[in-house]
Amino acid sequence: MARRGADRELEVGSSAHYEDPALYARTYARRSEDVRFYVELARGARSVLEYGCGNGRIALPIARAGVPVTGVDLSAEMLADLRARLANEKEDVRGRVRLLRGDMRDKKVPGARFPLVLCTFNTFLHLYTREDVERFLARVRAHLAPKGRFVFDVSMPSPIDLARDPSRTYRLPDVRHPDGRRYRYRERFDYEPLRQVLFVAMEHEADDHSFVTPLAHRQFFPAELEALLHYNGFAIESLAGDFGGAPADRHADSLVYTCRAR
Ligand SMILES: C[S@@+](CC[C@H](N)C(=O)[O-])C[C@H]1O[C@@H](n2cnc3c(N)ncnc32)[C@H](O)[C@@H]1O
Repeated sequence: MARRGADRELEVGSSAHYEDPALYARTYARRSEDVRFYVELARGARSVLEYGCGNGRIALPIARAGVPVTGVDLSAEMLADLRARLANEKEDVRGRVRLLRGDMRDKKVPGARFPLVLCTFNTFLHLYTREDVERFLARVRAHLAPKGRFVFDVSMPSPIDLARDPSRTYRLPDVRHPDGRRYRYRERFDYEPLRQVLFVAMEHEADDHSFVTPLAHRQFFPAELEALLHYNGFAIESLAGDFGGAPADRHADSLVYTCRAR
């Protein structure tokens, strides 16, 4: 029973944030460095497979740059939003995007191997257990062309966030929802050290409406990730601390891994 409750917590924590694609798109509208980075990488590839394509923040610019992209995502809402966005694109861009709904741990992409496989913007943090990671990396290996590259980014665990008191909330700037409301916005952090999962409750409060969006992010420490990649058949070709090539040091917020099958 407790186990079922824990699984449900992770399921909700990997889906709730993606049930409101309009709010998601507005929240990350100004996040552009990763888009530029992935589009430049994609330009050098014949085709791209993106796990966790969401509503196309990265997949769409890749297709607009002339590179065919296959996107896999679990969220029906995010994929429906991406399909609606595609309807406003030119026919050639639409023709370069193939979308598959499924779980990155087991979804098979028919008929193709890709010179570039991506897992973008913390999608990897929705792999909570060793088995999740093993299943996903087996999928990546199966879909990677010989000499292909697997590139992904994850947040560096932040000791400050992990140490936050779960009974406290932290006020952040108000959120303007596409529904027209202005919400007072707070976050609550609750880190579970045994499972290494950071649960974040995103609390939105307006005068006439309030809601909380839970998010669950597995925290991967760099040496742990290096071992997981190694023992699942990958060699790290490079590791950067941001999308501009900064070194991965103690100041890094993001870790950007470029890997090859070994
Ligand atoms: C932070 S979003 C990234 C979306 C997009 N790549 C971007 O950069 O905006 C993470 C995405 O991973 C998807 N996701 C979470 N768990 C998944 C799973 N097990 N299999 C496939 N997709 C998953 C979510 O639905 C969501 O769209």
